[in-house]
Amino acid sequence: MERAALRALLSALYSPRSTLRAPRSALHSYNDGMIVTIDGPAGAGKSSATRLLAQRLGFDFLDTGAMFRAVTLAALRANVNLTDQDALAQLLDTIQLDLPAGKVLLNGEDITGLIRTPQITAASGPIAGSPIVRRRLAEWQRRIAAGRSIVCEGRDQGTVVFPKAECKFFLTADPRERARRRHGELRERGETVTLDEVLQSQEARDRRDAARDIAPMVPADDAILLDSTGLSLDQVVARMEEEVRRRLNSPLTACAAPDSEPRTQ
Ligand code: DC
Repeated sequence: MERAALRALLSALYSPRSTLRAPRSALHSYNDGMIVTIDGPAGAGKSSATRLLAQRLGFDFLDTGAMFRAVTLAALRANVNLTDQDALAQLLDTIQLDLPAGKVLLNGEDITGLIRTPQITAASGPIAGSPIVRRRLAEWQRRIAAGRSIVCEGRDQGTVVFPKAECKFFLTADPRERARRRHGELRERGETVTLDEVLQSQEARDRRDAARDIAPMVPADDAILLDSTGLSLDQVVARMEEEVRRRLNSPLTACAAPDSEPRTQ
């Protein structure tokens, strides 16, 4: 590889890019990007792992749960019947979603804080089970990821949206530990909710996500199963990073191999 090209590649790998609208890096001039998917139940640590992994790799990241939450908020505001597919289709035509730097903008309004409430979580069930919403969001997700190196988190990223992703993870954790983490987050945000309530709503959501007909939450056949119980975020991400870098360096992977040592934070 020419010296200038190598320098551009290394600088791209070592400069963390956090916005989905980031300019394409030199990495992309050698390939069509690498897609890493992280699926799994709520509270397994997907969001934190996705962001940290993306940062370490110099990839973009996509929180698809935030997209479902944004559509849920828009539907509640518009008083749309959450199970009326025609009404949801019309609503989707009026929505513009932007995801800059860890934020969620709905038609230009910053709704990042508004979509993380228990009310939106509860109402997101029918939206996540809606065929029209899933189809439209999957199209958006594929458009966002096109040509990028990106880590995408959700429930169906490795199975439905990116079945050919180069590296897939399914992240789980013991239900009690997941509920404890989520409870802590909610308390930090000033929500008054008990651990038992969080556990019950989490169990209901897991059942619902795993049992729905369309895009159920299941590991892809070729996903790596990771149980984060008792592991630190750093340990989980180190394991993921090792796997992604191994594949980046594999001649069988269509991606360019970064000539660099694994990056430590
Ligand atoms: O991950 P989360 O809790 O922010 O997800 C919000 C809702 O969207 C939840 O009901 C699960 C659903 N979801 C989904 O069905 N498919 C995805 N890819 C991401 C989230």
